[in-house]
Amino acid sequence: MNALLRPLLSLATQIIAESSALASVILKCRTHSQCQIQEVPGKREFPRTMKMSGWQIHSYGDLDEVQFSDNIRIPQVKLGTEVMVRVKAASINPIDVAMIGGYGATLLNMMRKMDLEFPLVVGRDFVGEVVYRGIGAPKFPRIGDTIMPKPKALGDLEASGILYSGLTAWSGLFLSGNLRNLCGLLRGASANRKRVLILGASGGVGTMAVQIAKNEDAQVFVTAAGDASDMLSKLGADCVIDYRDENFLQGIHSNGPYDIILDCAGYGPKFASTIECNFDNYVTFSSPLLRNMDSYGLISGTVRNAISLIEDNSRIVSQKSRGIVKWGYFVPLRQGMEYLKKLAEREKLKCIVDTVYGFNDAIEAYQRKWGDAFGHQYQ
Ligand SMILES: NC(=O)c1ccc[n+]([C@@H]2O[C@H](COP(=O)([O-])OP(=O)(O)OC[C@H]3O[C@@H](n4cnc5c(N)ncnc54)[C@H](OP(=O)(O)O)[C@@H]3O)[C@@H](O)[C@H]2O)c1
Repeated sequence: MNALLRPLLSLATQIIAESSALASVILKCRTHSQCQIQEVPGKREFPRTMKMSGWQIHSYGDLDEVQFSDNIRIPQVKLGTEVMVRVKAASINPIDVAMIGGYGATLLNMMRKMDLEFPLVVGRDFVGEVVYRGIGAPKFPRIGDTIMPKPKALGDLEASGILYSGLTAWSGLFLSGNLRNLCGLLRGASANRKRVLILGASGGVGTMAVQIAKNEDAQVFVTAAGDASDMLSKLGADCVIDYRDENFLQGIHSNGPYDIILDCAGYGPKFASTIECNFDNYVTFSSPLLRNMDSYGLISGTVRNAISLIEDNSRIVSQKSRGIVKWGYFVPLRQGMEYLKKLAEREKLKCIVDTVYGFNDAIEAYQRKWGDAFGHQYQ
């Protein structure tokens, strides 16, 4: 496969819901009000019998498990704090592919509480229109509003690739990496030209991270395949290190030290100990957290996670380089969404769309991402 196309795929692979095909999700909104379901006069109603179409699995396994159905019960708004969204476009992230194989099932089942595990509708990143809301949902979003709160500058397809990867990059840089105080919301506070190295910058999370770091006036160093170099420079990378180059590690060391190293390439925590220059924070999105819980259960898995994190950091202490190893995550905070929205409104945030698939071609889109997710040994 074309080397330039591959890295852009998770961010860019879009599934468009055909107008006849309704896919719905329920979103939780924060409120202190009482919970009830609201019928909205003059707006489309969703009786319990109404069906939607979607792609779902009935057990964990490989791509053969993903089946189309046009007979899926529309999820009900159970709490007044929830809204229902008609999905217009969605994008595929590595976790969507990994979850088909059962990744993260232990923790997600605990979070689902009473809800059944199967059939499971796959996918999580989308843009859509609010069609129904609980009476206790906050004033916004209203019926007819678009979610994610989409700036005019972005089309549906672009917007559907921003939230999951964007919030992951935002949390890695601000919450774990300390790029700026107050999560970047207070303008004027200086990031002191921080030096940020983004590993795997040409993927979904990486392209978001480059643009966020640039917006914070950081010096942005990235690793990527050489043919993604132009695209990354346009997004704001100051220096591109080709990871296919045999001197690639040398390239990382000679450009150091770094305030933040953000691992979006699936290297994991151990890679930090191969870095021979100083850094403050090494943040990896490929931690063993969910895998440990899947393998050992919630309690033993949590204990193992604590041990792994201590081991990751003690390994670093014995190396020449100094810094803290942290595990980064997608964190769905309002502050992060506000940040991304403002950036997009100022036309400083782009989503690189590589290929658009029709809703009926979802399997083809998943097939294309399948090799990548497992090729990178999703952790
Ligand atoms: N923990 C969480 O909450 C969370 C959330 C989101 C994502 N993630 C993880 O974060 C990582 C990035 O996610 P994503 O959505 O950006 O995935 P993605 O779009 O598949 O991007 C991965 C990128 O890594 C690059 N890459 C692979 N091997 C590399 C290497 N040796 N050196 C430099 N770059 C390399 C790929 O480039 P090529 O195509 O050229 O190989 C690609 O651009 C994934 O591992 C994902 O599983 C974790």
